[in-house]
Amino acid sequence: MGFYGERVVPRIINVACGTKTLEPLRRRVCEGLAGDVVEIGFGAGLNVPFYPAAITRVAAVEPSDVGWKLGGKRLMAASVPVQRSGLDGQSLPFADDSYDAALSTWTLCTIPDVAAALREVRRVLRPGGTLHFLEHGLAPDERVRRWQRRLDPLEQRLFGGCHFTRPIIDLLTTAGFTIKELDVFYEKGAPKFAGADSLGTALTP
Ligand SMILES: C[S@@+](CC[C@H](N)C(=O)[O-])C[C@H]1O[C@@H](n2cnc3c(N)ncnc32)[C@H](O)[C@@H]1O
Repeated sequence: MGFYGERVVPRIINVACGTKTLEPLRRRVCEGLAGDVVEIGFGAGLNVPFYPAAITRVAAVEPSDVGWKLGGKRLMAASVPVQRSGLDGQSLPFADDSYDAALSTWTLCTIPDVAAALREVRRVLRPGGTLHFLEHGLAPDERVRRWQRRLDPLEQRLFGGCHFTRPIIDLLTTAGFTIKELDVFYEKGAPKFAGADSLGTALTP
């Protein structure tokens, strides 16, 4: 990864994903998290202010050193212990069945082998553990999907490998998760091709 990917993209993400308008969505996706939690694609810790007090500890998985450092102030103010515990969601350095819950926000779009990452999340969650997800992906409408397919190559180049066209719910169910709660919507203030969101929880068997 060059200078742009290493040093510029994490800063763009910190600003673009750190807007006030996204805070109610972050609050919603974090609701109900409890016990030992693993967050994949932790970024700059933009979910930290919304962690419920019922969380015992968070294992943050994030490859970007710059992203991690940008989260410094949020980490200092965190009300639950957070430790950077892994670098790659595709290969988690944790034992089977070792977490109560997992969190992923706008990350399944970017991890290169997303199926491998979901297999890993499923492996480290205890039976009945819950994945809380808030992800953008393939839009429900064909007209929007056409734009997503056109713009996908540019998006991948500009934003660290991010895809517009991943079918988030199909990926979750193929990985063996059962969808428990789901809200599909277009994010207010974002172009539809970039803001086709799925927010919900998924259970391991
Ligand atoms: C669009 S950002 C979202 C960051 C954060 N989850 C948020 O909501 O602000 C995508 C994140 O996925 C991370 N990422 C990329 N490849 C990854 C991988 N293989 N494993 C875990 N995280 C990864 C990126 O470094 C980046 O922080």
